[in-house]
Amino acid sequence: MKKDVILWAGAGQIGMAIARRIGTGKKIVVGDKKLENAESTAKIMNEAGFDVVPAQMDLSDKTSILDFIKTGQTYGEVAMLINAAGVSPSQASVETILKVDLYGTAVLLEEVGKIIKEGGVGVTISSQSGHRMPQLTAAEDELLACTPVEELLSLEILQPENIKDTLHAYQMAKRCNEKRVMYEAVKWGERGARINSISPGIIVTPLAIDEFNGVRGEFYKNMFAKCPAGRPGTADEVANVAELLMSEKGAFITGTDFLCDGGATASYFYGSLRPDK
Ligand SMILES: NC(=O)c1ccc[n+]([C@@H]2O[C@H](COP(=O)([O-])OP(=O)(O)OC[C@H]3O[C@@H](n4cnc5c(N)ncnc54)[C@H](O)[C@@H]3O)[C@@H](O)[C@H]2O)c1
Repeated sequence: MKKDVILWAGAGQIGMAIARRIGTGKKIVVGDKKLENAESTAKIMNEAGFDVVPAQMDLSDKTSILDFIKTGQTYGEVAMLINAAGVSPSQASVETILKVDLYGTAVLLEEVGKIIKEGGVGVTISSQSGHRMPQLTAAEDELLACTPVEELLSLEILQPENIKDTLHAYQMAKRCNEKRVMYEAVKWGERGARINSISPGIIVTPLAIDEFNGVRGEFYKNMFAKCPAGRPGTADEVANVAELLMSEKGAFITGTDFLCDGGATASYFYGSLRPDK
């Protein structure tokens, strides 16, 4: 009997923590831009009893995404999606952040939504950054949610003159992820499938360590020191949420976003992390 397939994009710490919770008994295809990341993660997982195949995939490239999905389908029906691929404000340019985190995520959600098995479920990793920005208008939110994928990067609000810096690009990308999940949940629902996002706060991973060592390092360290939890989080704590969302216990949850940030966003609006304090 063929196993159900999990498509997992982004062979980093958050993706691996989630895959370990839900991957038992499934065929897992892990894709990453850096094949060596996918290979080393697959090795760790296979040596722990999972069944993982590594693949090269680039989330910013539609052809690569389609190849990744096709590869998954050669093993069986795609029943789950984990999207934990992404770049952070200190790792990439505005253009790359928008192409990977915003456009690529939108393409992946749309294309997997076309083939996901009935009863299937997905989770995509957004960020607290999508919540730590001024509200967009209802019309702007709707554009991020519903604009056809190939027109997304031409939106006025995403043009270089309207994006201040890489942090702003990341915030817009993550806001778009949340809106796109709402839009896609309606379509995934027609197949009896569910899709949600998780917005982590600072989670110690190579990506976060790049931020600690980047130009905004002090800003990030202050953020976790002053958030209600008083510390950064771990990938396993994000996986706790993913496990709920992707299990039967999450059957009534779709099209929504879960903040998992130690209260940093709450403090940003109403506590000691307020920008005016
Ligand atoms: N770590 C945090 O503090 C934090 C907070 C909020 C959100 N996130 C989000 O979580 C997700 C996972 O990040 P992580 O912290 O596990 O980082 P990580 O560095 O451990 O993993 C990210 C992985 O994505 C891969 N990747 C980068 N660009 C890619 C592309 N174009 N195509 C395919 N793969 C690509 C990288 O090679 C890497 O293996 C990202 O979307 C990130 O924005 C992380």
